[in-house]
Amino acid sequence: MPGFEVIGKEEFAEIKHLFDKSKILFRHSFDHLRNEVYKVKEFEEAFAKRMKVPHALAVTSGTAALRVALAALDIKEGDEVITQSFTFVATVEAIIESRAIPVITEIDTTLNMDPADLEQKITDKTKAIIVVHMLGVPARLREIKKIADRHGIPLIEDTAWGCGGYYDDIPLGTYGDIGTYSFDFAKTMTTGEGGMIVFKDENLYKKAAAWHDHGHENNPEFPRWEDSRSSSGFNYRMNEMQGAVGLAQLKKLDYVVDEQRKNANIIKESISDLPIEIRTMPDGSFETSDALVFITDSNERARKCRDALIKIGLGTKILPEAISWHFAGTWDHMPELVQRNEGDLTKAFPKSLDLLNRSVSLPIAINMLDRFQIKIREALTSVLHS
Ligand SMILES: Cc1ncc(COP(=O)(O)O)c(C=O)c1O
Repeated sequence: MPGFEVIGKEEFAEIKHLFDKSKILFRHSFDHLRNEVYKVKEFEEAFAKRMKVPHALAVTSGTAALRVALAALDIKEGDEVITQSFTFVATVEAIIESRAIPVITEIDTTLNMDPADLEQKITDKTKAIIVVHMLGVPARLREIKKIADRHGIPLIEDTAWGCGGYYDDIPLGTYGDIGTYSFDFAKTMTTGEGGMIVFKDENLYKKAAAWHDHGHENNPEFPRWEDSRSSSGFNYRMNEMQGAVGLAQLKKLDYVVDEQRKNANIIKESISDLPIEIRTMPDGSFETSDALVFITDSNERARKCRDALIKIGLGTKILPEAISWHFAGTWDHMPELVQRNEGDLTKAFPKSLDLLNRSVSLPIAINMLDRFQIKIREALTSVLHS
């Protein structure tokens, strides 16, 4: 959560540098006016280096990142794209925007994609899998990648919540074929709005770069209006101000994740003897600890936990209060999803519904309440022992 908590003089210095030296807010062209200042390009290069991949493409949001990733994979009308029941609506919106059919798996106690259900849902129309590291805990990537590879299906990691995390020492977002990130204001690093896509494959990167820019196959040798094009596209370009802020935020990413993890571990320790089950972290996980989720014995108990946490001035994050934006079983405003699930979403994902109904998500920040672990323990003890 706390990218915005650490916004300070470094972000301001990057913006000041942009305005002092260049004043060009568009990522391309105007070369004679910009004094070699290319903030978005510099941000992409720094992000690719941090994530140890050859290519990164900055875009306007995490939703745009998913849409562009699907375009790079040539996802077309009638193709099926599989994702998980617990995610933000954006993941499924990107599939629908690509005119593909969203297919949804159950989650397991990691609260991410259940690999066994993934295997069941693959058909010969499946053209991509989007696994989500919800609230900063890595999905079971080893199993999921093995399944994807066995079927020859590309794997996209929706890393909106997982930026700065690892799985088996590999940065989240780079385990599969394409990784997407969000830098909206609630994320571990933020550019206000914004996103990034990372690629190992140069061709996928080139297709995405063109598609996010009306099809421009950018060639620095020619003026922009002479660019060649091989496909249609759209406009999801990041601007220079976002790039400038991103450069400063990226330098703070490891600090933010370390502080979040420290605070999450303190809470975990203080509530370890309470009758709850902490969400499963797969072996090999290095989570971003954006939130700490635990599972209670009933929805009533989860709601009481929320009430008690509000009383101490903390509240909860997504679970249980905002489940309707994050659980596919409630998205009856999406006809594509309803149709696919025989007209009734309420019964489509029973295992996920049961887990999510009983879950409580503690928001983790850098600057927590004074004596937060003691207050949280007291608040939860009163509810869980009643
Ligand atoms: C899992 C997931 N994917 C994608 C997005 C979309 O990101 P953005 O808000 O930058 O469009 C979000 C946003 O919260 C998200 O939680």
